[in-house]
Amino acid sequence: MLTKIITEGTTSVEVPIPDETSSFPPSSTAVFYNPAMRMNRDIAVAAIACFSKTSPEYTYLDALSASGIRGLRIAKEVGLNTAMSDWDETSFELIKKNITLNNLSNCTAVKRNANVVMLDGSFDITDLDPFGSPAPFLDAACRATKRLLCITATDTAPLCGAHKKAGIRNYAAVPLKTEYYPEMGVRILMGVVARALAKHDKAMTPLLSYASAHYVRIFASVKKDINEADKCLENMGFLSHCFNCGQREWKYGLAVHIKEECSGCGHTTTPAGPLWLGRLHDSDFCGEVIREAEKRGFKQVEKLIAACRDELETPMHYDYHKICKSLGITAMPTGELVLALKERGFNASRTHFSGISFKTDAGIETIKKIVRELV
Ligand SMILES: C[S@@+](CC[C@H](N)C(=O)[O-])C[C@H]1O[C@@H](n2cnc3c(N)ncnc32)[C@H](O)[C@@H]1O
Ligand SMILES: [Zn+2]
Repeated sequence: MLTKIITEGTTSVEVPIPDETSSFPPSSTAVFYNPAMRMNRDIAVAAIACFSKTSPEYTYLDALSASGIRGLRIAKEVGLNTAMSDWDETSFELIKKNITLNNLSNCTAVKRNANVVMLDGSFDITDLDPFGSPAPFLDAACRATKRLLCITATDTAPLCGAHKKAGIRNYAAVPLKTEYYPEMGVRILMGVVARALAKHDKAMTPLLSYASAHYVRIFASVKKDINEADKCLENMGFLSHCFNCGQREWKYGLAVHIKEECSGCGHTTTPAGPLWLGRLHDSDFCGEVIREAEKRGFKQVEKLIAACRDELETPMHYDYHKICKSLGITAMPTGELVLALKERGFNASRTHFSGISFKTDAGIETIKKIVRELV
C-alpha cells in the first residue's frame, strides 16, 4: 500500500494514496480515507469540543476508524481519551502507526468488530462513520453511549426515498422521494435513532443535524431516563404529501389515522414514516459550535452551522424553483420570498438544505399566492 502523510486541523495522518488513473471511490483503497469528508470531521472536532468543554474527562469512541483520522483528531485537537476500532488488519496497523506519528498517549486501538466493542463497553461519546448505512450498528451504539451520539449515513438513496425498499429494510420506516428529500433523510434517520435509544430507556435531544452533498449527519445528546425516553418518542409521527399541489401535513404519534385526502386540492396523498417531527438543532449549541469553528479557522463550517441555527423548526422545506416552475414564472432571490412571507405575518427562513429552498408555516396555496405577487 502506497501512503502519504496529510494534515487536517493540527493532526497529521498517514493515509493510502489512491490510484490516480482509476475512477474507483476512496473505499477501493486498502484503507479508507476520503478527503471530501474533511468538513464532516472539522464539524465533529468543533461540536465535540463544545460538548465536552466542561468535562474534559469524557471518553470518545471512533467505532469504524479506518486510518484513525477521526479519533486522532478528537484525541489531539479536543484532548479526549479516545478509543478507535476497525476489524480490518491493515487499518488496525495504520491506526497504531498514526497514534505514534502524533505522539498521543490518550488513544487506544483495537482490531475488533465495532458491535462487539460497543456491546462490551460504554463511552460518553460514540461516533459511527460507516460505509453506507449505520443501521447494523445502531442498537449497540445506543446501548454503549452515555452522553452524545454522532452518526454519519452515506446511504442517502434509501434514507431519502430514492431506494424505497432498502429504506424500509434498514430503517423500519417508509421514506418518500419528494423535493425536500434531504430533510426526509435526516428525519428518517433521527426517527430510527430515537426508537433504538428508547429500547435502552434513553432519550435523545438533537443538537445539530444536517444533510450535505452525499451524507446525513446527526449529533444527539443522550440521557438515560424512562420518562424522558417516553417524551422523546412523542416527537415521532407520520407525514402525508400531496404530489398534485405540493401540500404536506404531519401527525404526531406512532398509531395514527392519517387523512388520505389532501386538504388543499382533494387528491389522494402519499404517506411516509414513522419519522422524527421534532427539532433538528439546539440553537444555543449551534451558536457555540460556530464560535468554536471560528476560533479554529473552519470557515466552511461556520456558514453551514449558521444556516442550521437560523432555520425554522417547521418540518419539510419548500423548493422555491419547483413552485415557480409549476406556476410558469421566474424565481426572485430566495431571500426576497422569505422576507415577503415574513412581511405578511408568517414565520419563514432559509434552510441549510439548499440555497433555493425555504421553510415557512404558510400553507402551499398561500405560498403560491405570495410567489405570484413577487414577480
Ligand atoms: C467509512 S470507513 C471509516 C472512515 C473514517 N471514520 C474516516 O473518518 O476517515 C468505515 C470503516 O469501517 C470498517 N468496518 C466496517 N464494518 C466494520 C465492523 N463491523 N467492525 C469494525 N470495523 C468495521 C471498515 O474496515 C472501514 O475501515
Ligand atoms: Zn393537494
